[in-house]
Amino acid sequence: MKIRYILPLLFLSFAIISVQSLAQSVQQEKYRPQFHFSPKAHWMNDPNGMVYYNGIYHLFFQYYPNGTTWGPMHWGHATTADFLNWEEKPIALYPDSLGMIFSGSVVVDQHNTAGFGENAFVAIFTHHNQKLEDAKTGLHQYQSIAYSNDEGKNWTKYQGNPVLPNPGISDFRDPKVMWYEAGKKWIMTLATKDRITFYSSGNLKNWKRESDFGANLGAHGGVWECPDLFPLVHNGKTVWVLLVSINPGGPNGGSATQYFTGNFDGNKFTADSKAEKWVDYGTDNYAGVTWSNTGKRKIFIGWMNNWQYANLVPTKNWRGATTLARDLDLSEVNGDLFLRSAPVKEILPFFKPVYKKEVITVNKEITLSSYVKDLNGKMKLNLSFDRGESVKIILSNKETQKLIIGYDSRTNSYYIDRTHAGKSDFEKGFAKKHTALRIADSKNIKLSLVIDVASVELFADEGLTVMTDVFFPESFMNTLKISSGRKSELKNFSILGIHTNTENSLK
Ligand code: FRU
Repeated sequence: MKIRYILPLLFLSFAIISVQSLAQSVQQEKYRPQFHFSPKAHWMNDPNGMVYYNGIYHLFFQYYPNGTTWGPMHWGHATTADFLNWEEKPIALYPDSLGMIFSGSVVVDQHNTAGFGENAFVAIFTHHNQKLEDAKTGLHQYQSIAYSNDEGKNWTKYQGNPVLPNPGISDFRDPKVMWYEAGKKWIMTLATKDRITFYSSGNLKNWKRESDFGANLGAHGGVWECPDLFPLVHNGKTVWVLLVSINPGGPNGGSATQYFTGNFDGNKFTADSKAEKWVDYGTDNYAGVTWSNTGKRKIFIGWMNNWQYANLVPTKNWRGATTLARDLDLSEVNGDLFLRSAPVKEILPFFKPVYKKEVITVNKEITLSSYVKDLNGKMKLNLSFDRGESVKIILSNKETQKLIIGYDSRTNSYYIDRTHAGKSDFEKGFAKKHTALRIADSKNIKLSLVIDVASVELFADEGLTVMTDVFFPESFMNTLKISSGRKSELKNFSILGIHTNTENSLK
């Protein structure tokens, strides 16, 4: 082969090897999640503008590309087809003269209502103007739009921004827009202080205020943020779900996401229950909303962090990740409707059983470490037991740090105890046990746990009670014990491992 061919080939293979090794070294960083999305470097918070199109799930997200703490916000961009393998793309939206790019949504404008082209992606987001905030005008947040005609690669901001100016409300943000077919109009759900305001539009450019929700309902311990309104079909009937993130005021401290079920008639949302309900009772699932353009299916993803300590968590080159994407549906318990979340079905085949047993008899305590010791801190556990038992699942590592997940039959509650699960000195409220009252009332308790190096997601009773917590272990959690304090039976027990292309080096 001639030298003029060999040199470029050599260069190309060198470039491929260095891209691969960069990807590997990123994946090998301490605490780095292996099958949850996290940016290669720098800060992320809320998931934004999730939209499904042509077999691809797009995720945009609050991103600060110049540091690992919150800073002037951009929209980062990543895509996946299977919710396991994520590809990070170039930044989608940059701050401009109107301000930083805060949270918002993306719709596919199928009928070209906005005039940007058929099937254009239209992003509807909050512009946050720092100068107006510093001047204490209270007018620093307003809604703007941008469009893309190449599936989210290149974006053009609309010349007429903002499309919804600030009416004198200091917290006026996070528009989530959906097409309301019955009224043939767009509906924007917006967080306005500790209320939700609905707006409507025929063209995404002119918006009309419809109604307010929330004066006498829900938790009000903090500002309302990142709402989402969508229908779910339950027993053949359409039920509307309104998600509202709140900071602070969550059930276990800091930020969390509450929800309401009820009816939306195109102008107004009416809740069907006064009960306080939370999407997730753990501390680390915030600002979550659903993908648009997925038809009847509703897929949710949250930011796996909490404003109480988000800027302090001890990761080095990046900060922030997303939860697992979750399928949502509804279930009735004692006449009230509750959301259920389950890991999306696309990710399940990646988990491979390493141990399965129909019945395990626990004599006070059982050790199952041999099945998890080679799983590099990534696993899924499934089990069920009678609600009369109190069961503790104890994961630990060679430093004897311990993460305990369990059910307490005396208090009828689930818990995650990360008090001694690793590094916690970065914030005084971090090392804690978090609890959640059980919602289901069946005799059989069914648990599913997903662990990814430094996070745990507990789906109890088919996702009726969910808890997501992060923790920061010195080395992989590679020993497993289950204790019940007496002789008891665990049923349908399985441990599954997940293989990802790159393995984490935390040993
Ligand atoms: C929620 C939030 C949003 C805001 C964004 C700013 O976490 O405070 O209300 O748009 O983060 O990054």
